[in-house]
Amino acid sequence: MTMQVRSIPFLALGGLFEQDDVQAATRVIAAAAGKDGSFFPQPEEADFQNAFAAHEGATGAVAVNSCGTALDVCMMVLGIKPGDEVITTPLTFVCTATCAIAQGAKVVFADVDRQTLCLDPEAVRRKITPKTKAIIPTHFAGHPADIEAFDRLSRDSGVPVIYDAAHAVGATFNGKPIGGAAKASCYSFQSNKNMTTLGEGGAITSADPEFLEQARRKKTFGYVYGKQLRVASIGFNYRMTKPQLAVGLTQLAKAARVNAIKREKFRAMSRLLAGVGELTLPAGFEGEGHGAHLYVLRLDTDKAAFTRDALRTHLKDKHGVATSLHYPAVWTWEAFDDLEYDRSDCRQAERACEQVVSLPIFPQTSDDDLNYIAWAIKQSLTELK
Ligand SMILES: Cc1ncc(COP(=O)(O)O)c(C=O)c1O
Repeated sequence: MTMQVRSIPFLALGGLFEQDDVQAATRVIAAAAGKDGSFFPQPEEADFQNAFAAHEGATGAVAVNSCGTALDVCMMVLGIKPGDEVITTPLTFVCTATCAIAQGAKVVFADVDRQTLCLDPEAVRRKITPKTKAIIPTHFAGHPADIEAFDRLSRDSGVPVIYDAAHAVGATFNGKPIGGAAKASCYSFQSNKNMTTLGEGGAITSADPEFLEQARRKKTFGYVYGKQLRVASIGFNYRMTKPQLAVGLTQLAKAARVNAIKREKFRAMSRLLAGVGELTLPAGFEGEGHGAHLYVLRLDTDKAAFTRDALRTHLKDKHGVATSLHYPAVWTWEAFDDLEYDRSDCRQAERACEQVVSLPIFPQTSDDDLNYIAWAIKQSLTELK
């Protein structure tokens, strides 16, 4: 069978941006231009933080301007400093690791679970030393990490866990939202995530009111509000703007719908690709717990006579299907060339980094395009043999 070549980009597009989002943003801008005259973020900030905390099962939330700054804030609140070690996954975005390095700590990479590609709690346990001061698992592609096992590990070792939940708005673990787990979770609302606050944005959630208060201070110059304003510690300005907060509320209201749409498309793709011998398909879309950010399959490079990169190039050049890569191992970024870090015993992650391919599946992807992408993959596997 031949098919007309299509052009399927890997768009920087994750959620649904609709009329209610436009109205929310323009409402606050119009108010500022009219009698209000200010972009002071209340009441939107409090409303968004309360709604987000409730959505994610946390005691509270602190809105910030990105997941990167959310992670930075968490490292600062934990007091991470030179001489400390922070354990994280190699299979993540760069800032999951650099947030620790920015505080002068050494990053220790531990291996991932072969199936979920999330940080493996037992691999982390083997790397804990008296210097370990934080563990940062990523809910990879939206699949929740093993929260139960990390809770146990944290209790046994006394080391706090901070989740990188950039991919995982709305994800659940054992039926519970993930945002109240461990010490804190850091979310991203950047433009390709399932909800976005006008392209950038993030939040920290926690069940610990003291942690939340310290995080709130860090993101606003260290301010302590009272009869008299105090600056009790060093802080920064990592605030979200008022229009972003207003859009955060409308985006949050449709986050469950976006996740459900994407999960359904991911399931459909898995049905279309079922039984293709050279591929390992992602797991976890059966129930409602997966955050459904990315569909990441693996090319079994032991069975295939070609590399993952050859497959990606062929898909793009011959069939017009753009894919993405989540992720190259963090230590391969040149910024790590001169750093001291530990990357021993990360065999599963190393293999995964050579095999993963992220497919272009978004809420707007049509059934027709899903069929075409699956056909192009199967066709490529035959053509490359
Ligand atoms: C796993 C992970 N962590 C953190 C981030 C950073 O998020 P932000 O762009 O909101 O800083 C990303 C962004 O894509 C990510 O994928």
